[in-house]
Amino acid sequence: MTTFNFPADFIWGAATASYQIEGAWQADGKGESIWDRFSHTPGKVLDGDTGDIACDHYHRWPDDIRLMSDLGLHAYRFSIAWPRILPNGRGQVNQAGLDFYSRLVDGLLEAGITPFATLYHWDLPQALQDEGGWPVRSTAEAYVEYADVVSQHLGDRVKNWMTLNEPWVIASLGYLMGVHAPGQQDLDEMLPASHHLLLAHGWTVPVLRRNSPDADVGIVLNLTPQVPASPSAADRAAAWTIDGTTNRWYLDPISGRGYPADIVQSYQRELDYIQPGDMDVIAAPVDFLGVNYYNRGIHRSNVAENMPETVQHSGESTEMGWEVHSESLYDLLGRLHFEYRFPAMYITENGAAYPDPLTDDGHVHDADRISYLQRHFQSAARAIAAGVPLKGYFAWSLMDNFEWSFGFSKRFGLVYVDYETQQRILKDSALWYKRVIEVNSLQA
Ligand code: FCB
Repeated sequence: MTTFNFPADFIWGAATASYQIEGAWQADGKGESIWDRFSHTPGKVLDGDTGDIACDHYHRWPDDIRLMSDLGLHAYRFSIAWPRILPNGRGQVNQAGLDFYSRLVDGLLEAGITPFATLYHWDLPQALQDEGGWPVRSTAEAYVEYADVVSQHLGDRVKNWMTLNEPWVIASLGYLMGVHAPGQQDLDEMLPASHHLLLAHGWTVPVLRRNSPDADVGIVLNLTPQVPASPSAADRAAAWTIDGTTNRWYLDPISGRGYPADIVQSYQRELDYIQPGDMDVIAAPVDFLGVNYYNRGIHRSNVAENMPETVQHSGESTEMGWEVHSESLYDLLGRLHFEYRFPAMYITENGAAYPDPLTDDGHVHDADRISYLQRHFQSAARAIAAGVPLKGYFAWSLMDNFEWSFGFSKRFGLVYVDYETQQRILKDSALWYKRVIEVNSLQA
């Protein structure tokens, strides 16, 4: 047995996102989002599930804060639904939407839980998508207006801000692969979408600093170590290309390096949507990087098609089919620190879906999730020991919720949600996590 100790000020938290838990999709003046539209479109989400009700967190948030207190969480990462604040994306402000998040923040602070707010976790106002969505520059301008309104109201109490959650997913799954809202499939939409997301981020950093004095501002990227299937030069080149389209496409510009030249070349596009000065805006220094880590990717070169090809892993799997590979989290944190030198990092999401049957004794005995978390915590502890400025860890997710195109079929929560009754039940992993937080260390 080895004991892994965490720094005394290490922040233990859990994360959620507005569309995945809130429900109340039409309450109190909220506008329609692209996820409302997408989930209401037949065939887009498994079993026709929608976030109309989800976990009904919009009405049950006081109970949910009590759950967080039961777990002993230091911090809670949540997102703000843009169409609750600006139902049309810009212009008219909906005070009731601001009041909801204001009450939530006050409730968290009263419970001694630090709010970490994400401004954009995918629920774009449909009105802005109707004008073209992220592929058009005016959406980034509207985002700054939204961020300004929110931070003027909450910036006195929220001191940890994340501009965007996973721009790669937004641009690639939403505008290239079409499996997320708004369901577009066009490289010529994906590329400008990625740029306007980064521009929205860069423009907003100084706005948040102005409206929220002493706040820490960051961005959350999903980062996937992309490894070659064999040591051959061709497979290594294939993995490096995928690293470029997924990781470097976002890491490099926010670090002031511009878009990676090898990938720019491979897209064979003009990138004429980039205006003078944009890359400086995007390189606005951040206080931290939020790292969402779930798995690695394995790639080889497909010689016939002269393209990288992803290889199905043969390792341990979660219910998503994602490989469990905690060692890659250690590698990733080390790479990020030694190559990019962000002042601080948080793991803003990490976790796993498992079947999680509710047993006759009224409990969920999710030993597989405990084992998953334990191994990833070890990697985090080892990275800290190696000098990585990792300041905290947020489990995905506080509770089971609407898992995008998979609907409610995938459970990622520490807390089980019975969607019929909205009853919340602490899984064994929640009780285990509570103990880790209490002792701030891990026996493994
Ligand atoms: C991430 C998302 C989060 C959740 C997890 C499983 O990509 O940020 O909302 O769906 O995956």
